[in-house]
Amino acid sequence: MESSNIRLAVIPGDGIGTEVVAEGLKVLNAAGVKSETTEYDLGAKRYHATGQTLPDEVLDELRGYDAILLGAVGDPSVPPGVLERDLLLRLRFELDHYVNLRPVKLFPGVTTPLGEARPEDIDMIVVREGTEGPYAGAGGAMRRGTPHEIATQESLNTAYGVERVVRYAFEKALARPRRKLTLVHKTNVLTYAGDLWARTVDRLSMEFAEVETDYCHVDAASMFFITQPQRFDVIVTDNLFGDILTDIGAAVAGGIGLAASGNVNPARTAPSMFEPVHGSAPDIAGQGKADPTATILSVAMLLDHLGHAQASARVEQAVADDLIERQSAWTARSTREIGDDIAARVAG
Ligand code: NAI
Ligand code: MG
Repeated sequence: MESSNIRLAVIPGDGIGTEVVAEGLKVLNAAGVKSETTEYDLGAKRYHATGQTLPDEVLDELRGYDAILLGAVGDPSVPPGVLERDLLLRLRFELDHYVNLRPVKLFPGVTTPLGEARPEDIDMIVVREGTEGPYAGAGGAMRRGTPHEIATQESLNTAYGVERVVRYAFEKALARPRRKLTLVHKTNVLTYAGDLWARTVDRLSMEFAEVETDYCHVDAASMFFITQPQRFDVIVTDNLFGDILTDIGAAVAGGIGLAASGNVNPARTAPSMFEPVHGSAPDIAGQGKADPTATILSVAMLLDHLGHAQASARVEQAVADDLIERQSAWTARSTREIGDDIAARVAG
């Protein structure tokens, strides 16, 4: 697969999304993997100009690519929820991104708020379910705006949906040296959903005898991310718990400027989408201050997903080398300078 041409859809989005995506593409080119990119102007700008979030014909076109690279979408001028629900969540659901993959890895030389933690202490990967749970959009409201308002937001968990994400997590764990999988949930309170998740992990553990399994309540896991991050190798968890836990993960592993993610369709029935965890950062947009590293690491995940393991490893190594030098750097570099430096390392 190393020689094939990647057909890539690019959604730069809004704010710093456009700035960091330019650097991600620069590094992709430097990695020597041939790609053909097509840009899509989805996000706040298009919403204001046309009222559109994700037209059906654009969604259909997107299905035809090998992968999607997304910067970030959103702006304070767009009512909350519109782009999240009608664009981002819709892409995840329609393209069946049932794995939201978020590595939490402390690179050498990176400052962590956990003063004592060493890189070997923080090296995990969170496998967050991406299409079900409380994000499925099941629920409703009655008598809205009155004192008698009722609002429900149900968590949907299907045997099929839980099994496929748990299986993926076991396979990930099997491929890593520690071979440890931790289920994070709240089985003592969310007894119906928790029971399904726990039984699924138990059942699949028979097939993956080499993988050690563990369980942690989400509240305890939030604490252990900070006090004992070395407990974790691969984590599998539901959509909402994973969302929250990975923000803690981003914080302990050096901040939002470094956190990468993949919205993965492991069955490959539709393209997977790779994006930095951060948003469009309107507070620093247009100033060249955004760190493109999270996007560059997302490009490394994209390359790995498409079978370009060597190119992926080269990008990750270039980032690691760049991060080591950052600690002794005299001056802060611009978005473009960081992209140039990492691209030069990849090409070199
Ligand atoms: P944000 O992640 O955009 O910014 C949070 C803080 O982190 C800001 O102070 C920002 O300057 C800083 N920051 C973020 N990325 C950075 C980078 N690469 N380098 C240096 N500093 C960085 O989150 P916020 O402010 O809550 O949301 C802003 C907009 O982004 C909203 O419209 C929100 O809906 C949207 N958003 C979009 C996401 C996506 O497209 N997947 C994810 C999260 C938020
Ligand atoms: Mg989030």
